[in-house]
Amino acid sequence: MAQFDRFAGDYQSVLDESVGSAAYFARVKALAATDVLGVGFAGRVLDYGCGVGLLARALLDHLPRATLVGFDVSQPCLDGIAEPLRSRAAWTSDKTAVGGEFAAVVVSNVLHHVPPAQRDGLVADLAGRLAPGGRLLVFEHNPLNPATRWVVAHCAFDDDAVLLWPRETTALLQTAGLQGVRIEYLACVPPALGRLLPLERHVRHLPLGAQYLAWGRRP
Ligand SMILES: C[S@@+](CC[C@H](N)C(=O)[O-])C[C@H]1O[C@@H](n2cnc3c(N)ncnc32)[C@H](O)[C@@H]1O
Repeated sequence: MAQFDRFAGDYQSVLDESVGSAAYFARVKALAATDVLGVGFAGRVLDYGCGVGLLARALLDHLPRATLVGFDVSQPCLDGIAEPLRSRAAWTSDKTAVGGEFAAVVVSNVLHHVPPAQRDGLVADLAGRLAPGGRLLVFEHNPLNPATRWVVAHCAFDDDAVLLWPRETTALLQTAGLQGVRIEYLACVPPALGRLLPLERHVRHLPLGAQYLAWGRRP
């Protein structure tokens, strides 16, 4: 049984309780991914560790021309993905069916559930699934933010979480052979001030946000 199987039925409500609005944080990440990939992006995206598809939905809303494959080790999470999202992407818990040559691979809040000794192997595998020029985007909790650390310590999902310092994540991407590796900090604007979110672009270099995005490009 995968760790998240037991949360498949109430994933969003557990997350809403923990962070205030799961949909808001998905929107924050989709906006940042759109800034990296470009609004006209029309490539294939792998959402690795897609859970119940919260981020996938936001990605497809922001990048309507993208084609998405969602992979998760938890089949019950995938089974919980309802229409119309279900028909908008391909979903699988079979890694041999995932394939490669993706224009982008997104890994959102997955790596802190992966034992540290296995992270370099996983990131190398995902980098290898990119087409030349493709981008790997890793979203993670920002351990520099005390509020994030409090949320992680009290979230039912995160009892196995070992957070990644930004430096560790950039090193994983560089070791996997990715170029132009960068970090941006996200979600410093709380959900209640969501209309100010577009302004966040101007402070993404400051390590303030609840989350961060590390990304790099396959040569
Ligand atoms: C916190 S959830 C994040 C879900 C989604 N990516 C998001 O941002 O909303 C973590 C997900 O990663 C999945 N997961 C954990 N370890 C994994 C692994 N080694 N490979 C693939 N998925 C994994 C879990 O089953 C769970 O659905």
